[in-house]
Amino acid sequence: MAGVSRSDAWFDPSDPGFLIDPYPHFASLRALGPVHAHPQLGPVAVTHAACSELLRGRDLGRIWVDAEPAADFPAFNLLHRNSLLEREGPTHARLRALVAGAFNRGHTARLEPWVRTVADGLVARLAERIRDEGSADLIADVAAALPVEVIAELLGVPEPGRSALRGWSNAIVTMYEPDPGAERRAAAERAAAEFVAELRELTAYRRAHPGDDLVTGLLAADLDADELVGTAALLLMAGHEATVNVIGNGTLALLHHPDQWKRLVSDPGLDATAVEELIRFDPPLQLFERTAIVDTAVAGFPVPAGTKVAALLGAAAHDPQAFDGPDVLDVGRTRNPHLGFGLGAHYCLGAPLARLEVAATLDALRRHLPDLQLAAEPPRRPDFVMRGLRELRVTA
Ligand code: HEM
Repeated sequence: MAGVSRSDAWFDPSDPGFLIDPYPHFASLRALGPVHAHPQLGPVAVTHAACSELLRGRDLGRIWVDAEPAADFPAFNLLHRNSLLEREGPTHARLRALVAGAFNRGHTARLEPWVRTVADGLVARLAERIRDEGSADLIADVAAALPVEVIAELLGVPEPGRSALRGWSNAIVTMYEPDPGAERRAAAERAAAEFVAELRELTAYRRAHPGDDLVTGLLAADLDADELVGTAALLLMAGHEATVNVIGNGTLALLHHPDQWKRLVSDPGLDATAVEELIRFDPPLQLFERTAIVDTAVAGFPVPAGTKVAALLGAAAHDPQAFDGPDVLDVGRTRNPHLGFGLGAHYCLGAPLARLEVAATLDALRRHLPDLQLAAEPPRRPDFVMRGLRELRVTA
């Protein structure tokens, strides 16, 4: 790109202006090369090819380092140290196989009618609220409610843990932002401690009262007590955080492009490609890090052993080398090799469930609210890595 300098392209991940539309900044960075040393984030891969190489790289891994001072973060560190997402090699392979086994035993296919019924009920209530009150918040009433309900049901989490789950998870994931600050770090540890206590109780209960749920399935597998808690916590958090934001960011994208919403309303056959396109167009997870296990390189950029390097998935998602017309929202896009679910060893285990939840929501919105519109421009969450909306007020 002519005339772009590195300082034009640098972005401040906490700048609200940047968060509204980060994609032009990413385009400037891609034009300068595949990997850059960002002043705040360190080396970042910004092209689709470089992010793919990074995520597939055998010399790079997710190497967990405890939050410091470790004495202040016992529960937060326990959850992550024992999460399969944070492990590599044989431990990762063993935990992943166990979870995949418990997860894949027909759970998603069996759940489909129930997920569609829950989505239908939530969207019907949203439509009723719009009729009664003029507008309603699609995030609270649908985008957050559905994934939390589904993952809590899958893991057999009873009330009151179910309603506390979103608050705990939201507090914990702010630690993944570049600079969360002392207050949010303390809140993350408090949430993690309550979450660990709840999960210890849940696993003890399921040991005594086995059910048809994933926690019971994991209890039958060869996991120690902390691995069980770490795995259940990962599933509960990963099982809803991103899905909430795909439904939120995706609905906003459709309402900003009413021609695409109309296309989807008139053609249910487009649901599958629309789900992939919404994940690509405004990804809910913008960045993932890896650490070099040995001296290595990504797209020719040297990465010494022990150095962190990030895949900027938001930039990869709009790379013209990988997508035709990447800044166009096209719900019928067929060639769509997006990296929204990751790639390689840590590829998302919940992708089939996430696809089902988003498709069920689009279908329910089409049937109950074909004239859906924005009631106001929505406020964003102030976070960069977990990209989402605080509220999405809609009308019809
Ligand atoms: C649209 C929604 C979702 C998106 C965009 C998404 C995205 C991702 C991504 C990008 C990764 C890889 C992270 C990395 O490479 O460092 C991942 C991993 C994972 N996801 Fe998802 N996810 C979604 C929904 C779900 C759901 C519904 C579940 C579970 C029910 C889930 C469970 C997991 C697990 C367990 C991993 C870790 C896999 C491993 O480390 O081997 N995800 N997800």
